[in-house]
Amino acid sequence: MDKFIIEGGRPLYGNVRVQSAKNSVLPLLAASVLTEDEVVIREVPAITDVTCMAEILRGLGAEVTFSEGNVRIGGARASNHIIPSSLTRELRSSVFMLGALLARFKRAACAYPGGCDIGLRPIDLHLNALKRFGVEIAEREGYIECTCPRLSGADIALDFPSVGATENVMLAAVMAEGRTTLAGAAKEPEIVDLQNFLNAMGARVRGAGTDVIEAEGVGRLHGTEFTPMKDRIEAGSFLIAAAICGGEVETEGVRAETLGLLLHKLRENGCKIHTKNDKIKIVSSGRLRCNRRIETMPFPGFPTDLQAQMTALNAGAEGGALVVENLFETRFKYVPELLKMGADIEVRGRTAFVRGTGRLHGAGLTAGDLRGGAALILAALGAEGNSEVGGLIHVDRGYSDFEGKLRSLGAGIRRVRI
Ligand code: EPZ
Repeated sequence: MDKFIIEGGRPLYGNVRVQSAKNSVLPLLAASVLTEDEVVIREVPAITDVTCMAEILRGLGAEVTFSEGNVRIGGARASNHIIPSSLTRELRSSVFMLGALLARFKRAACAYPGGCDIGLRPIDLHLNALKRFGVEIAEREGYIECTCPRLSGADIALDFPSVGATENVMLAAVMAEGRTTLAGAAKEPEIVDLQNFLNAMGARVRGAGTDVIEAEGVGRLHGTEFTPMKDRIEAGSFLIAAAICGGEVETEGVRAETLGLLLHKLRENGCKIHTKNDKIKIVSSGRLRCNRRIETMPFPGFPTDLQAQMTALNAGAEGGALVVENLFETRFKYVPELLKMGADIEVRGRTAFVRGTGRLHGAGLTAGDLRGGAALILAALGAEGNSEVGGLIHVDRGYSDFEGKLRSLGAGIRRVRI
C-alpha cells in the first residue's frame, strides 16, 4: 500500500511529456487479437490497466511482451475465448473484447462486468449492438456467452454514444461479411485512433469522429506497428493542476480540440491559455474565479474524466459553481474527501453545488476511484499545509509516474510505502 505525502502551496513551472492515451491503448490491445500476426504498440504507459489488459490477452493464449516501453503481442491461439471473471471485474472496459473475440473466434465469453465506484456500468448497448450482427447471447450465472458462426454486417444505431459500445461494434465489424454502418457513434478522439489502428491492420473503416461509422468486412487482418495518440485526460489533469497551484506549465502531444470545453472553462477561471499545434501552455496566478456551470457531455462537450479535477479547482476558487455529471450516476464519491479540506460542496444526485472557499487546507485523504483520486491530489497540491493521499491503487490505474512528473514541475509530493 502506498500513499502520497504532499506539501501544498507550491507553484508549478515546466513542461510535461504526456503519456500515450490509456483509453486508446486499451481498445488497441483488444484489437490485437484480430490477427495471428505480431502487433507492436509503441510507448504504452506504465499503468496497471495496461498490465491487466495484457493478462487478459495472455489468458486468451497470446504472447505479450513489454520492452523499452513498447508492447509486442503474438496472435491469440484459438485456444481460449473466455475472459477470466477476476480480470473482467478489475477492468470493466474489457467488455469491448467481445467484439474482437467474436470476429476472430466466432465465440466469446466474459463475466458480467458489474458496477463500480462511478456508476452501474450497464452493457445493454454493447449486447444489443452485437445481436445485430447475428450474435446469439446467453446470460447465465453472471456470465455472458456469445456465439456467432457467421458475423453479418448490419445497420446499427446506438441510443447513446457509448465509447465502449462504439469500439465493440468496430471490432466486430472489420471482419464481418459485408458492410456495417453505426449511427449514433461516440466521437471521442480515441475512436479515431482505433479506426487508424484497424486500417493499419488492413481493415476498411471510415467515419470515426463523426456520428456515423462505416466498415467493409475483409477476410483477414495483418500485423502492424502503431504509436497511439497521447492522453488528453492526463494533459488536462496537469493543466488543471497548474491552474490550481499557480505558475506556468506547457503540455506537449495533445491538441486543444481534443480537450472539449476544458480550455474555455480554465479561461473562465482567469487562466491565460496559449496553444500552438500540439502544445498547450497555461499561466495562472493561483487565485481563481469559479465557473458558473460545468456540465459533462459526450465529446466534444466537457469530458466527464475531468469533472472531478475541475470540481476540486472550483472548491478552492472564489464564487460559486454548479457541476452536473450527465455521464455516470455516482461520479461525486470523492466529494466527502474534499469536505475534509474545508470545501463547501453539496451533492444532490448528479449535481454538485460548489461554494468556492478561496483556499482549501491540507488533510488525510483516501482516493476511491481513478479520476476522483487525481482530483484529491490536485486539491492537496494547491491547499494550505500538508496532506496525505492513500488509495493510490486507483490512481496508478491511469497515471504513469504521476508524482515524478509533478515533482519535475516543482510540486512537493513524494510516494511512501505504508
Ligand atoms: C469510456 O468508458 C472510458 N473508458 C471512460 O474513462 C470514460 O469516462 C467514458 O468512456 C465516457 O467518456 C475507456 O475508454 C477504457 P460509455 P465506457 O460506454 O466506454 C452508459 C477513465 O477514467 N452505458 O461511453 O465504459 C454508461 O453507464 C474512464 O479513464 C449504458 O447505459 O463509457 C455511462 O453512463 C472512466 N449502456 C454512459 O453510457 C451501455 O451498454 C457512458 O458510458 C454502455 C454504457
